[in-house]
Amino acid sequence: MLDGLFLSMPPRILGGWGCRRELAPLLRRLGHRQSLIVTDRFFSTETPLVEELQSQLRENGIESLTFDGGIPDPTVDACMQAQAFVESRGWTHRIDHVIALGGGSNIDLAKVLSLTLKFGGKPQDYVGEDRMPGMPLPLVALPTTAGTGSEITGGAILVDQASATKVAVMGNDLRPRIAVIDPELTISCPPKVTADAGLDALTHAIESYMTLDGVEFDRGGDPDPVYTGRNALTRLFAADAISLCFRHLPSAYASGDDRTAREGMAAGSLYAALSYGSAGLNAVHALAYALAGLTHHTHGSTNAVYLPYVMDALMEARRGDLAVIGKLAGATGENESALAREAVIRTRDLVARVGIPTTLQGFGVKESDLPALTRNGLGVSRLTKAFPIQPPDEVYQRIVVNAYHGILEAES
Ligand SMILES: NC(=O)c1ccc[n+]([C@@H]2O[C@H](COP(=O)([O-])OP(=O)(O)OC[C@H]3O[C@@H](n4cnc5c(N)ncnc54)[C@H](O)[C@@H]3O)[C@@H](O)[C@H]2O)c1
Repeated sequence: MLDGLFLSMPPRILGGWGCRRELAPLLRRLGHRQSLIVTDRFFSTETPLVEELQSQLRENGIESLTFDGGIPDPTVDACMQAQAFVESRGWTHRIDHVIALGGGSNIDLAKVLSLTLKFGGKPQDYVGEDRMPGMPLPLVALPTTAGTGSEITGGAILVDQASATKVAVMGNDLRPRIAVIDPELTISCPPKVTADAGLDALTHAIESYMTLDGVEFDRGGDPDPVYTGRNALTRLFAADAISLCFRHLPSAYASGDDRTAREGMAAGSLYAALSYGSAGLNAVHALAYALAGLTHHTHGSTNAVYLPYVMDALMEARRGDLAVIGKLAGATGENESALAREAVIRTRDLVARVGIPTTLQGFGVKESDLPALTRNGLGVSRLTKAFPIQPPDEVYQRIVVNAYHGILEAES
């Protein structure tokens, strides 16, 4: 049962409505005294959250400097600007921990800063797996979306304007040292942010539930791998996450102030990250990176559009898993095949219900773009190697064509 098990996660995970208030006393107990807060202008100008955090830190004897220049899909330049800001205030060598407040974008920016502020150099110097010279500055993540799960994972995604691609910095030591899952922080998310982030979480859960087994996963001889394929524990987390996302995303999207729905999605996002943060992902994310590169649509929405088509393509290889997902999504089919087909259809219907296009045409993609989308998806080899069907070339091609035309074989 435990074959292939390898799990890595933050040493402290706090959860609960309002639990962010437990952070400052904890930081004090851990001996931290100088904090860099990384956030964006929404939080510093339109919410009391930054001032609240600063004052709680002060009350606990912790000085702070705030950088509020975070942007969606942070760039290498945004990271350099943040570094220059900290330097201009003379804080580079004072900071003993970094606090990220925001969605996946601010958390990823803070992750890279936790490296560059300590070891110098440019973000590009650390792109790839385990290019870190040592432990980064301790990082605390307070996610305000549910979510990317970046508060749990060992990866940070930046846009490199020079190559117009997303690049990843990865390593188990990049995982935040403290993750604070306070669903109250997500209450102000507008519907579009709720939908994008929520479907990102569902994608993490479903994709990692069905990814390659840990015993088959190629770790490349790495004794401390970030991603290792699915195992018994990641599947426990993923299954609960799938059920929570199906149950709570429609209400979180339609009634943003529904506390139960926000709590359900915060838990769903956390559990999904505890799964995919070790099991890893495959075709949905690989193809979504290529689609985001072409159309500049959000990470969550580009995942969402592909998710049902990738599930559909796994009907033979993962029928039993799809049937379980169907049940978790509320399906009532009488046998495994019916449940599996319902899993695919219910996923596509959920995507539509939260206002995201269910075909590539809905993203403005042209038929002539399809070969490049397939090729670029296949090119993300760290993800593609974990797809349950190998070699994946023909299946990827079919997924892209079906996603363009809106064809689900489960419906035929
Ligand atoms: N490192 C990882 O493991 C990982 C995993 C998945 C995605 N990501 C990255 O995360 C990013 C997407 O993150 P995201 O979906 O959380 O969105 P985001 O962080 O890009 O935020 C999107 C917008 O929503 C706003 N926002 C966030 N929380 C809000 C709130 N509570 N109330 C009102 N507005 C709010 C932000 O200010 C921003 O304008 C992408 O760059 C993606 O590459 C990283």
